[in-house]
Amino acid sequence: MVKVLFVCLGNICRSPMAEAMFRHEVKREGLEKKIQVDSAGTGDWHVGQPPHHGTLKILEKYSISAEGLKARQIQERDLDEFDYIIAMDSDNKRNIEMLKTAYPKAKIEVLLDFVPDVQVKNVPDPYYTGNFQEVFDLVEQGCKNLLDHIKTTDLIGKEGHAK
Ligand code: 4NP
Repeated sequence: MVKVLFVCLGNICRSPMAEAMFRHEVKREGLEKKIQVDSAGTGDWHVGQPPHHGTLKILEKYSISAEGLKARQIQERDLDEFDYIIAMDSDNKRNIEMLKTAYPKAKIEVLLDFVPDVQVKNVPDPYYTGNFQEVFDLVEQGCKNLLDHIKTTDLIGKEGHAK
């Protein structure tokens, strides 16, 4: 089982959108028994809350289920539990790295580092910009490339056989 955690600041806009979209893609490819998905925020202001209405609206527009999304704050133990911790921007990544345990299991990466040809490196925060479509488009590219990466790196052995 490969475990993936998406992280933003509040866990109500970007990372729950990524969680829902990635889960959707994983399901579409029939990989739900091999890849587990979750999201969290570095901040605690919105713990227990559902996603922002802008995130819910755009997920609905693309018929992506928002079922079960509820904000939580990242914990130190997440770094020992997850294989990939995917930050929405470099500030989030820095804050996650401050929680680093002695021998963390997780690879901590920025989502758009999986998209080499994109202009921006950080997913803009729609809590401030209000532009959920821009975020959706960027997160979609990131999620697709991340899934390809996991499929080739973690799910397929050296001889090309499924792990
Ligand atoms: P997110 O957006 O990190 O994409 O969930 C934010 C949500 C809430 C706040 C900041 C960013 N806030 O300051 O409450």
